[in-house]
Amino acid sequence: MSTLNVLVIGGSGGIGAELIRQYQLWSAATGQPTQIYATYHNHEPRAESGVNWLHLDLRSTESIALMGEQLQQLQQTQQIQALDHWICCSGYLHGEFGEPEKAMKSLHGEKLLGDFAVNSIGPLLMLQSSLGLLKKSPLAKAAFLSAQVGSIEDNRSGGWYGYRMSKAALNMGIRCAAIECARWRQPPIIVALHPGTTLSGLSQPFTARRSPAPQSAHACAQDLFALINRLTLEHNGQFLRLNGEVIPW
Ligand SMILES: NC(=O)c1ccc[n+]([C@@H]2O[C@H](COP(=O)([O-])OP(=O)(O)OC[C@H]3O[C@@H](n4cnc5c(N)ncnc54)[C@H](OP(=O)(O)O)[C@@H]3O)[C@@H](O)[C@H]2O)c1
Repeated sequence: MSTLNVLVIGGSGGIGAELIRQYQLWSAATGQPTQIYATYHNHEPRAESGVNWLHLDLRSTESIALMGEQLQQLQQTQQIQALDHWICCSGYLHGEFGEPEKAMKSLHGEKLLGDFAVNSIGPLLMLQSSLGLLKKSPLAKAAFLSAQVGSIEDNRSGGWYGYRMSKAALNMGIRCAAIECARWRQPPIIVALHPGTTLSGLSQPFTARRSPAPQSAHACAQDLFALINRLTLEHNGQFLRLNGEVIPW
């Protein structure tokens, strides 16, 4: 059985960490050899067997370029021959720049630049760095965790300017990549996914008092793992909920 190579960007996050666990459980249950690479930013995970942790700062083009070099080196030294599953679970909603903007008067240029760096530009550049390895897989799957609030058509309540705008920009990048890469000799499946509201550090300020509580990161990762496994070429270029329903862009 050939090894399944997986890269989880944002593997230190709520959903990313649980997704890694899903791959590990599945690998142990089925005997499918699985090699997992994952990135962290501020929260360095404990060195765990089976996960190769790499540091990444999506706000830094140098850090992204270094990651590209590391991936190339892994390929040249034949430590990894292809990337089969590429999942971007990183994202930024609140933090050093405060809470998401409720109104235009709160817009702040530095914050918006940061939102775009982490939520749109960084993930696309990471995909660019991974293309060589994705091309080597007979059926590569690249899934970006986007957000339904990034859907322009679905926006009825406004607010959260930076997050919404940066996820909408991410969605356009995903769609372009899906169209371009469909011309490969072994075309990949590239999709945007909405995980649904999920308990995590990212959602904590907005979900802490919600009743009933939203889904756990564990439940989200179970559905995410199942969806990734049933993706086919027909899904390429779509924006999906974890139950497979299509979301308008
Ligand atoms: N949770 C929800 O309700 C929800 C809803 C819709 C969409 N989403 C999307 O789902 C994805 C995962 O969210 P989550 O809830 O798991 O969030 P989370 O727990 O906050 O995890 C975010 C991840 O992004 C990484 N990250 C943040 N800033 C970064 C940077 N500058 N450079 C590199 N990595 C960075 C974090 O790394 P460190 O922790 O190591 O710093 C962490 O691994 C995000 O794209 C989010 O927008 C989530």
